[in-house]
Amino acid sequence: FFADKRNFRHFMLKEIYEQPETAQQWIDRFLPMDLPSENPIAMPVSKSILENIEQIQILACGTSRHAGMVGAYLLEQFAGVPTKVYFASEFRYAPPPLSPHTLTIGVSQSGETADTLAALRMEKERRDSTQDPNFSFHQLGITNRVDSSFGRELENVIDIGSGIEIGVAATKTFLGQMLSFYGLTILFASHRQKRKSQEILDLSNDLRLIPKQLTNLIKKHDSLSKEIAHLFVETKDVIFLGRGINYPIALEGALKLKEISYIHAQGYPAGELKHGPIALLDQHVPVVSIAVPGVVYEKVLSNSQEAKARDARLIGVSTHRSESEMFDELFTIPKVSEWVSPLLTVVPLQLFSYHIAAHKGLDVDQPRNLAKSVTVE
Ligand code: G6P
Repeated sequence: FFADKRNFRHFMLKEIYEQPETAQQWIDRFLPMDLPSENPIAMPVSKSILENIEQIQILACGTSRHAGMVGAYLLEQFAGVPTKVYFASEFRYAPPPLSPHTLTIGVSQSGETADTLAALRMEKERRDSTQDPNFSFHQLGITNRVDSSFGRELENVIDIGSGIEIGVAATKTFLGQMLSFYGLTILFASHRQKRKSQEILDLSNDLRLIPKQLTNLIKKHDSLSKEIAHLFVETKDVIFLGRGINYPIALEGALKLKEISYIHAQGYPAGELKHGPIALLDQHVPVVSIAVPGVVYEKVLSNSQEAKARDARLIGVSTHRSESEMFDELFTIPKVSEWVSPLLTVVPLQLFSYHIAAHKGLDVDQPRNLAKSVTVE
Protein backbone atom coordinates (compact mmCIF):
# COMPACT_ATOMS: atom_id res chain seq x y z
CA PHE A 1 0.00 0.00 0.00
CA PHE A 2 1.32 3.45 -0.91
CA ALA A 3 0.42 6.86 0.50
CA ASP A 4 0.57 8.48 -2.93
CA LYS A 5 -2.03 8.56 -5.66
CA ARG A 6 0.03 6.67 -8.23
CA ASN A 7 -1.88 7.06 -11.50
CA PHE A 8 -5.25 7.59 -9.90
CA ARG A 9 -7.06 10.89 -10.02
CA HIS A 10 -8.11 10.63 -6.36
CA PHE A 11 -7.09 8.64 -3.30
CA MET A 12 -10.62 7.31 -3.01
CA LEU A 13 -10.43 5.62 -6.41
CA LYS A 14 -7.01 4.21 -5.60
CA GLU A 15 -8.34 2.87 -2.30
CA ILE A 16 -11.32 1.26 -4.03
CA TYR A 17 -8.81 -0.47 -6.33
CA GLU A 18 -6.78 -1.65 -3.32
CA GLN A 19 -9.67 -3.69 -1.95
CA PRO A 20 -8.63 -7.01 -3.51
CA GLU A 21 -5.25 -6.55 -1.80
CA THR A 22 -6.95 -5.69 1.52
CA ALA A 23 -9.01 -8.87 1.24
CA GLN A 24 -6.06 -11.04 0.18
CA GLN A 25 -3.89 -9.84 3.05
CA TRP A 26 -6.71 -10.46 5.50
CA ILE A 27 -7.12 -14.01 4.15
CA ASP A 28 -3.38 -14.71 4.27
CA ARG A 29 -3.30 -13.58 7.88
CA PHE A 30 -6.48 -15.04 9.32
CA LEU A 31 -7.68 -17.70 6.91
CA PRO A 32 -4.67 -19.55 5.48
CA MET A 33 -5.36 -22.94 3.86
CA ASP A 34 -3.60 -25.12 6.43
CA LEU A 35 -5.74 -24.33 9.49
CA PRO A 36 -6.82 -27.31 11.63
CA SER A 37 -10.57 -28.05 11.41
CA GLU A 38 -11.06 -27.50 15.18
CA ASN A 39 -9.65 -24.00 14.80
CA PRO A 40 -10.96 -22.71 11.46
CA ILE A 41 -9.69 -19.14 11.77
CA ALA A 42 -6.46 -17.65 13.12
CA MET A 43 -8.03 -14.71 14.90
CA PRO A 44 -6.59 -13.56 18.24
CA VAL A 45 -9.67 -13.59 20.48
CA SER A 46 -9.30 -14.84 24.05
CA LYS A 47 -10.88 -18.10 25.17
CA SER A 48 -12.75 -16.36 27.96
CA ILE A 49 -14.56 -14.17 25.44
CA LEU A 50 -15.60 -17.18 23.39
CA GLU A 51 -16.67 -19.18 26.42
CA ASN A 52 -18.44 -16.61 28.60
CA ILE A 53 -20.20 -14.25 26.27
CA GLU A 54 -23.98 -14.45 25.92
CA GLN A 55 -24.55 -11.30 23.91
CA ILE A 56 -22.69 -8.64 21.99
CA GLN A 57 -23.18 -4.90 21.69
CA ILE A 58 -21.49 -2.97 18.89
CA LEU A 59 -20.71 0.75 19.21
CA ALA A 60 -19.63 2.82 16.21
CA CYS A 61 -20.35 5.84 13.99
CA GLY A 62 -20.84 6.39 10.27
CA THR A 63 -19.45 3.78 7.92
CA SER A 64 -18.02 1.78 10.83
CA ARG A 65 -21.53 1.37 12.21
CA HIS A 66 -22.66 -0.06 8.88
CA ALA A 67 -19.85 -2.63 9.07
CA GLY A 68 -21.12 -3.36 12.59
CA MET A 69 -24.62 -3.93 11.21
CA VAL A 70 -23.35 -6.47 8.68
CA GLY A 71 -21.45 -8.01 11.61
CA ALA A 72 -24.55 -8.16 13.79
CA TYR A 73 -26.48 -9.92 11.03
CA LEU A 74 -23.72 -12.52 10.70
CA LEU A 75 -23.22 -12.99 14.43
CA GLU A 76 -26.93 -13.51 15.03
CA GLN A 77 -28.00 -15.37 11.91
CA PHE A 78 -24.88 -17.47 11.27
CA ALA A 79 -23.34 -17.84 14.72
CA GLY A 80 -26.47 -17.51 16.88
CA VAL A 81 -25.11 -14.80 19.23
CA PRO A 82 -27.66 -12.08 20.14
CA THR A 83 -26.13 -8.80 18.95
CA LYS A 84 -27.24 -5.16 18.98
CA VAL A 85 -25.71 -2.20 17.18
CA TYR A 86 -25.75 1.30 18.65
CA PHE A 87 -24.85 4.76 17.42
CA ALA A 88 -21.95 5.46 19.80
CA SER A 89 -23.21 9.03 20.26
CA GLU A 90 -26.63 7.78 21.40
CA PHE A 91 -25.33 4.93 23.54
CA ARG A 92 -23.41 7.37 25.73
CA TYR A 93 -26.53 9.08 26.95
CA ALA A 94 -29.01 6.21 26.80
CA PRO A 95 -27.20 2.92 27.43
CA PRO A 96 -29.29 -0.23 27.84
CA PRO A 97 -29.60 -1.77 31.30
CA LEU A 98 -26.43 -3.63 32.26
CA SER A 99 -26.50 -7.30 31.41
CA PRO A 100 -23.92 -9.89 32.41
CA HIS A 101 -21.68 -11.77 30.00
CA THR A 102 -21.66 -9.05 27.39
CA LEU A 103 -18.97 -8.36 24.84
CA THR A 104 -18.77 -4.72 23.73
CA ILE A 105 -17.19 -4.24 20.32
CA GLY A 106 -16.03 -0.77 19.28
CA VAL A 107 -15.51 -0.28 15.55
CA SER A 108 -13.50 2.68 14.29
CA GLN A 109 -11.24 3.02 11.28
CA SER A 110 -9.20 5.80 12.93
CA GLY A 111 -9.47 4.51 16.49
CA GLU A 112 -9.90 8.14 17.54
CA THR A 113 -13.56 8.99 16.99
CA ALA A 114 -14.58 10.90 20.12
CA ASP A 115 -18.13 9.55 20.32
CA THR A 116 -17.01 5.93 20.03
CA LEU A 117 -14.17 6.31 22.50
CA ALA A 118 -16.36 8.10 25.04
CA ALA A 119 -19.08 5.43 24.75
CA LEU A 120 -16.54 2.65 25.30
CA ARG A 121 -14.99 4.44 28.29
CA MET A 122 -18.38 5.12 29.81
CA GLU A 123 -19.39 1.48 29.41
CA LYS A 124 -16.16 0.28 31.00
CA GLU A 125 -16.67 2.54 34.03
CA ARG A 126 -20.25 1.42 34.38
CA ARG A 127 -19.18 -2.24 34.35
CA ASP A 128 -16.22 -1.68 36.66
CA SER A 129 -18.44 -0.01 39.24
CA THR A 130 -20.77 -3.02 39.57
CA GLN A 131 -19.59 -5.31 42.33
CA ASP A 132 -21.49 -8.32 41.03
CA PRO A 133 -19.02 -11.20 40.55
CA ASN A 134 -21.33 -12.70 37.92
CA PHE A 135 -20.66 -9.83 35.58
CA SER A 136 -18.12 -10.94 33.05
CA PHE A 137 -17.49 -8.09 30.68
CA HIS A 138 -15.13 -7.81 27.74
CA GLN A 139 -14.22 -5.15 25.23
CA LEU A 140 -12.87 -5.65 21.75
CA GLY A 141 -11.82 -3.04 19.22
CA ILE A 142 -11.82 -3.35 15.43
CA THR A 143 -9.61 -0.69 13.89
CA ASN A 144 -7.22 0.14 11.11
CA ARG A 145 -4.96 2.07 13.50
CA VAL A 146 -3.61 -0.03 16.34
CA ASP A 147 -1.38 2.92 17.22
CA SER A 148 -4.50 4.87 18.26
CA SER A 149 -6.42 5.44 21.51
CA PHE A 150 -8.40 2.30 20.61
CA GLY A 151 -5.20 0.31 20.45
CA ARG A 152 -4.00 1.65 23.77
CA GLU A 153 -7.23 1.47 25.74
CA LEU A 154 -9.02 -1.68 24.70
CA GLU A 155 -8.17 -5.08 26.14
CA ASN A 156 -8.42 -6.86 22.77
CA VAL A 157 -7.87 -5.31 19.37
CA ILE A 158 -8.27 -6.69 15.87
CA ASP A 159 -6.08 -4.85 13.40
CA ILE A 160 -7.90 -4.85 10.07
CA GLY A 161 -4.58 -4.09 8.36
CA SER A 162 -6.10 -2.28 5.37
CA GLY A 163 -3.11 0.05 4.99
CA ILE A 164 -3.33 3.82 5.23
CA GLU A 165 -6.58 5.33 3.93
CA ILE A 166 -6.46 8.98 2.91
CA GLY A 167 -9.88 9.57 1.32
CA VAL A 168 -12.34 10.81 3.93
CA ALA A 169 -15.01 8.48 2.56
CA ALA A 170 -14.02 5.05 3.88
CA THR A 171 -13.85 2.24 1.32
CA LYS A 172 -11.13 -0.37 1.84
CA THR A 173 -11.32 0.00 5.63
CA PHE A 174 -15.06 -0.72 5.48
CA LEU A 175 -14.19 -3.94 3.66
CA GLY A 176 -11.54 -4.74 6.29
CA GLN A 177 -14.01 -4.12 9.12
CA MET A 178 -16.63 -6.37 7.51
CA LEU A 179 -14.02 -9.10 7.02
CA SER A 180 -13.14 -8.92 10.71
CA PHE A 181 -16.77 -9.60 11.54
CA TYR A 182 -16.73 -12.62 9.21
CA GLY A 183 -13.74 -13.83 11.21
CA LEU A 184 -15.51 -13.34 14.54
CA THR A 185 -18.59 -15.07 13.15
CA ILE A 186 -16.58 -18.12 12.11
CA LEU A 187 -14.93 -18.13 15.52
CA PHE A 188 -18.18 -17.96 17.50
CA ALA A 189 -20.04 -20.36 15.19
CA SER A 190 -17.36 -23.02 15.44
CA HIS A 191 -16.72 -22.54 19.14
CA ARG A 192 -20.40 -22.83 19.96
CA GLN A 193 -20.98 -25.59 17.45
CA LYS A 194 -23.80 -23.54 16.01
CA ARG A 195 -23.05 -24.63 12.47
CA LYS A 196 -21.94 -27.86 10.82
CA SER A 197 -18.25 -27.86 10.04
CA GLN A 198 -19.18 -28.07 6.34
CA GLU A 199 -21.09 -24.78 6.57
CA ILE A 200 -18.10 -23.11 8.19
CA LEU A 201 -15.82 -24.55 5.55
CA ASP A 202 -18.14 -23.28 2.80
CA LEU A 203 -18.13 -19.77 4.27
CA SER A 204 -14.32 -19.83 4.56
CA ASN A 205 -13.94 -21.02 0.98
CA ASP A 206 -16.35 -18.35 -0.26
CA LEU A 207 -14.26 -15.73 1.54
CA ARG A 208 -11.10 -17.02 -0.13
CA LEU A 209 -12.65 -16.31 -3.54
CA ILE A 210 -13.43 -12.68 -2.70
CA PRO A 211 -10.11 -11.04 -3.75
CA LYS A 212 -10.32 -12.39 -7.30
CA GLN A 213 -14.00 -11.54 -7.57
CA LEU A 214 -13.30 -8.01 -6.35
CA THR A 215 -10.59 -7.50 -8.97
CA ASN A 216 -13.00 -8.39 -11.79
CA LEU A 217 -15.85 -6.39 -10.30
CA ILE A 218 -13.88 -3.19 -9.80
CA LYS A 219 -12.67 -3.02 -13.39
CA LYS A 220 -16.13 -3.71 -14.81
CA HIS A 221 -18.03 -1.34 -12.54
CA ASP A 222 -15.48 1.43 -12.78
CA SER A 223 -16.23 1.81 -16.51
CA LEU A 224 -19.99 1.41 -16.13
CA SER A 225 -20.21 4.00 -13.31
CA LYS A 226 -18.10 6.41 -15.32
CA GLU A 227 -20.39 5.98 -18.31
CA ILE A 228 -23.60 6.68 -16.42
CA ALA A 229 -22.36 9.32 -13.93
CA HIS A 230 -23.48 12.23 -16.13
CA LEU A 231 -27.12 11.07 -15.82
CA PHE A 232 -27.13 11.99 -12.12
CA VAL A 233 -25.50 15.40 -12.13
CA GLU A 234 -28.83 17.19 -11.65
CA THR A 235 -30.24 14.58 -9.26
CA LYS A 236 -31.32 15.88 -5.86
CA ASP A 237 -32.45 12.71 -4.08
CA VAL A 238 -31.65 9.02 -4.37
CA ILE A 239 -33.24 6.11 -2.51
CA PHE A 240 -31.18 2.97 -1.77
CA LEU A 241 -32.98 -0.29 -1.05
CA GLY A 242 -31.63 -3.49 0.44
CA ARG A 243 -32.84 -6.16 2.81
CA GLY A 244 -31.36 -8.53 5.33
CA ILE A 245 -27.58 -8.66 5.19
CA ASN A 246 -27.61 -6.07 2.39
CA TYR A 247 -29.70 -3.49 4.23
CA PRO A 248 -26.55 -1.99 5.82
CA ILE A 249 -25.06 -1.81 2.31
CA ALA A 250 -28.06 0.30 1.21
CA LEU A 251 -27.27 2.63 4.14
CA GLU A 252 -23.60 2.68 3.20
CA GLY A 253 -24.37 3.40 -0.47
CA ALA A 254 -26.52 6.34 0.60
CA LEU A 255 -23.88 7.63 3.02
CA LYS A 256 -21.14 7.48 0.38
CA LEU A 257 -23.28 9.45 -2.06
CA LYS A 258 -24.12 12.12 0.54
CA GLU A 259 -20.54 12.43 1.74
CA ILE A 260 -18.82 13.04 -1.56
CA SER A 261 -21.40 14.13 -4.13
CA TYR A 262 -23.65 16.20 -1.81
CA ILE A 263 -26.72 14.49 -3.20
CA HIS A 264 -29.34 13.72 -0.60
CA ALA A 265 -29.69 9.97 -0.29
CA GLN A 266 -31.48 7.65 2.06
CA GLY A 267 -31.13 3.90 2.58
CA TYR A 268 -34.17 1.84 3.51
CA PRO A 269 -34.90 -1.80 4.19
CA ALA A 270 -36.85 -2.40 0.96
CA GLY A 271 -40.03 -3.54 2.73
CA GLU A 272 -40.33 -0.06 4.29
CA LEU A 273 -40.62 1.64 0.90
CA LYS A 274 -44.42 1.39 0.99
CA HIS A 275 -44.58 2.89 4.49
CA GLY A 276 -43.63 6.41 3.49
CA PRO A 277 -40.68 6.84 1.13
CA ILE A 278 -42.74 5.69 -1.86
CA ALA A 279 -44.50 9.07 -1.71
CA LEU A 280 -41.23 10.68 -2.85
CA LEU A 281 -40.85 8.65 -5.99
CA ASP A 282 -41.17 9.99 -9.52
CA GLN A 283 -38.91 10.19 -12.56
CA HIS A 284 -36.60 12.59 -10.73
CA VAL A 285 -35.79 10.25 -7.83
CA PRO A 286 -33.60 7.30 -8.85
CA VAL A 287 -33.76 4.11 -6.82
CA VAL A 288 -30.77 1.85 -6.31
CA SER A 289 -31.83 -1.64 -5.41
CA ILE A 290 -29.57 -4.39 -4.06
CA ALA A 291 -31.19 -7.66 -5.10
CA VAL A 292 -29.11 -10.78 -4.64
CA PRO A 293 -30.38 -14.36 -4.42
CA GLY A 294 -31.16 -15.47 -0.88
CA VAL A 295 -33.91 -15.28 1.72
CA VAL A 296 -35.29 -11.94 0.57
CA TYR A 297 -34.50 -11.98 -3.16
CA GLU A 298 -38.06 -12.15 -4.51
CA LYS A 299 -39.18 -9.58 -1.95
CA VAL A 300 -36.55 -7.05 -3.01
CA LEU A 301 -37.45 -7.56 -6.65
CA SER A 302 -41.13 -6.91 -5.98
CA ASN A 303 -40.24 -3.83 -3.87
CA SER A 304 -38.15 -2.63 -6.83
CA GLN A 305 -41.10 -3.17 -9.18
CA GLU A 306 -43.16 -0.85 -6.98
CA ALA A 307 -40.51 1.85 -7.49
CA LYS A 308 -40.41 1.21 -11.23
CA ALA A 309 -44.18 1.60 -11.41
CA ARG A 310 -43.72 5.16 -10.05
CA ASP A 311 -41.41 6.00 -12.98
CA ALA A 312 -38.29 5.99 -10.83
CA ARG A 313 -35.07 5.29 -12.72
CA LEU A 314 -34.05 1.90 -11.33
CA ILE A 315 -30.43 0.91 -10.82
CA GLY A 316 -29.85 -2.69 -9.83
CA VAL A 317 -27.02 -4.43 -8.04
CA SER A 318 -27.82 -8.04 -8.81
CA THR A 319 -26.41 -11.34 -9.97
CA HIS A 320 -28.84 -11.90 -12.78
CA ARG A 321 -28.64 -10.73 -16.35
CA SER A 322 -32.24 -11.91 -16.71
CA GLU A 323 -33.37 -9.11 -14.39
CA SER A 324 -31.90 -6.58 -16.76
CA GLU A 325 -35.31 -5.72 -18.27
CA MET A 326 -36.48 -4.44 -14.92
CA PHE A 327 -33.42 -2.29 -14.25
CA ASP A 328 -32.49 0.78 -16.28
CA GLU A 329 -28.88 0.21 -15.30
CA LEU A 330 -27.52 -3.02 -13.88
CA PHE A 331 -24.34 -3.68 -11.90
CA THR A 332 -23.91 -7.45 -11.94
CA ILE A 333 -22.05 -9.32 -9.24
CA PRO A 334 -21.03 -12.99 -9.42
CA LYS A 335 -23.43 -15.60 -8.03
CA VAL A 336 -22.17 -15.96 -4.50
CA SER A 337 -23.72 -17.15 -1.28
CA GLU A 338 -25.83 -14.41 0.29
CA TRP A 339 -23.60 -14.54 3.38
CA VAL A 340 -20.61 -13.04 1.55
CA SER A 341 -22.58 -10.82 -0.85
CA PRO A 342 -22.07 -7.50 1.07
CA LEU A 343 -18.34 -7.74 0.36
CA LEU A 344 -19.21 -7.42 -3.33
CA THR A 345 -22.43 -5.39 -3.47
CA VAL A 346 -20.77 -2.41 -1.80
CA VAL A 347 -18.21 -2.00 -4.61
CA PRO A 348 -20.51 -0.69 -7.39
CA LEU A 349 -22.03 1.71 -4.87
CA GLN A 350 -18.61 3.11 -3.98
CA LEU A 351 -17.76 3.56 -7.65
CA PHE A 352 -21.18 5.02 -8.47
CA SER A 353 -20.76 7.74 -5.81
CA TYR A 354 -17.15 8.31 -6.76
CA HIS A 355 -17.86 8.90 -10.45
CA ILE A 356 -20.83 11.19 -9.81
CA ALA A 357 -18.70 13.33 -7.47
CA ALA A 358 -15.69 13.28 -9.80
CA HIS A 359 -17.92 14.17 -12.76
CA LYS A 360 -19.23 17.16 -10.79
CA GLY A 361 -15.62 18.21 -10.21
CA LEU A 362 -15.94 17.97 -6.42
CA ASP A 363 -13.15 17.49 -3.91
CA VAL A 364 -13.70 13.77 -3.53
CA ASP A 365 -10.93 13.13 -1.01
CA GLN A 366 -11.70 16.11 1.23
CA PRO A 367 -15.45 16.69 1.13
CA ARG A 368 -16.73 19.88 2.72
CA ASN A 369 -17.54 19.82 6.45
CA LEU A 370 -16.12 16.31 6.97
CA ALA A 371 -12.93 15.07 8.60
CA LYS A 372 -11.20 11.71 8.46
CA SER A 373 -11.37 11.37 12.21
CA VAL A 374 -13.78 13.40 14.28
CA THR A 375 -12.14 13.92 17.66
CA VAL A 376 -14.83 16.22 19.06
CA GLU A 377 -18.19 15.17 20.38
C1 G6P B 1 -16.36 10.61 10.15
C2 G6P B 1 -16.30 10.28 8.67
C3 G6P B 1 -17.13 9.03 8.38
C4 G6P B 1 -16.67 7.90 9.29
C5 G6P B 1 -16.89 8.27 10.76
C6 G6P B 1 -16.40 7.22 11.72
O1 G6P B 1 -17.57 11.19 10.47
O2 G6P B 1 -16.80 11.34 7.89
O3 G6P B 1 -16.91 8.65 7.02
O4 G6P B 1 -17.36 6.72 8.97
O5 G6P B 1 -16.15 9.47 11.01
O6 G6P B 1 -14.98 7.15 11.67
P1 G6P B 1 -14.16 6.02 12.35
O7 G6P B 1 -12.71 6.47 12.25
O8 G6P B 1 -14.59 5.92 13.78
O9 G6P B 1 -14.42 4.78 11.62
